Amino acid sequence: MTATAPARELWSSPVDGPAVAVVGGGQLARMMQQAAMALGVPLRLLAEGPDTSAAQVVPDALVGSPADLDALRAVAAGCAVVTFDHEHVPAAHLEALRTDGVVCRPGPEALLHAQDKLVMRRGLGGLGVACPAWRLVDTPAAVERSAPDLGGFPLVLKSTRGGYDGKGVWVIDSASGAGPAFAAAAGSGAQVLAEAYVDFARELAVCVARSPSGQTAVYPVVESVQRDGVCREVVAPAPGLDPELALAAQQVALTIAGGLDVTGILAVELFETSAGAVLVNELAMRPHNTGHWSIDGAVTSQFENHLRAVLDLPLGSPRARAPWTVMVNVLGGVEELYAGYPHVLARDPALRVHLYGKSVRPGRKVGHVTAYGDDLDQVRARAWHAAAWFNGTEEDNA
Ligand SMILES: Nc1ncnc2c1ncn2[C@@H]1O[C@H](COP(=O)(O)OP(=O)(O)OP(=O)(O)O)[C@@H](O)[C@H]1O
Ligand SMILES: [Mg+2]
Repeated sequence: MTATAPARELWSSPVDGPAVAVVGGGQLARMMQQAAMALGVPLRLLAEGPDTSAAQVVPDALVGSPADLDALRAVAAGCAVVTFDHEHVPAAHLEALRTDGVVCRPGPEALLHAQDKLVMRRGLGGLGVACPAWRLVDTPAAVERSAPDLGGFPLVLKSTRGGYDGKGVWVIDSASGAGPAFAAAAGSGAQVLAEAYVDFARELAVCVARSPSGQTAVYPVVESVQRDGVCREVVAPAPGLDPELALAAQQVALTIAGGLDVTGILAVELFETSAGAVLVNELAMRPHNTGHWSIDGAVTSQFENHLRAVLDLPLGSPRARAPWTVMVNVLGGVEELYAGYPHVLARDPALRVHLYGKSVRPGRKVGHVTAYGDDLDQVRARAWHAAAWFNGTEEDNA
């Protein structure tokens, strides 16, 4: 009987069976497994297919959809806690699991803020956290009417649900460009937000781990560079960031984590404005691309702290190991990804490489590389050179 099997007391016998159920079999779950192995914490996975990135490395993997309540019940059965590789579990299913007595971390109320951008904007407003000005709009005419309140065009339209990697975000110069946003939202049962276009100086991000007991570990503020809606590079810490603004950004993350009762990793994407303020762009409640640098660059990785947090164990130090750490994503380019190995590994024995076991498609995130050291320019050049080789591009982008 899976639905009502009681959650196991984890620490009585952690090797008897799965301790943490992870919904989703992508690269985040795969990297969670690395941390779980070191901690000696068995994972069980609900993967979308038998060969997904994480299913390749988690022996106890069930195949099923995150939208299938029976599959969720099966993966949760006997585990101490359920956590997530993505946000695509319907809220009603999370409620049903809770009724069964399953512990989900983060819980359904918190997670809703990472699933729905309208709920997020309202929640952040309630916490007094600064965000870009926004309006809920239902027609191009409503976009036109809201424009003066949002600083005029260009404006940013966002689907309230289902977006990732810039899909679900449209920058428009007039209300006549609003059609695709409404069409996409209607197709997925979502609504549309209009946001002020922030002419940001750069994008920042902060990860914080928070446990149910309320312990928090906040990582250094990083700079993230997106191209075509996809994260390309993360620099830890954000170069030249005013220490007071760094503290303010970390404080924002702590306020949100506590205010929304987030458990596990919360990632907060921020805009640094040219006026020297930070505005929250969006939230993720799971390990995040802007925290991948921490695997090699921090004392405790975001993946390990996510597991510690959802198990309500004491958190590890989020401190950086080196003055500078740079992570660059490896995007699908050349078909034969591993052909890059001899050159990349020989050229830079200090480089850290993470490939996700995913098939290569142009532009798809298939891995990342991390370099760290004392000289930012050198560290960046090393990371970009390696990523360029894997991507099959000649050019270093540093
Ligand atoms: N209000 C805004 N003003 C200017 N640029 C914006 C604004 N909102 C979003 N962007 C740009 O679009 C990118 C994607 O937006 P957002 O993070 O909301 O979407 P997403 O597709 O959900 O992203 P993710 O891949 O992080 O889930 C941001 O990283 C930023 O570069
Ligand atoms: Mg984003």
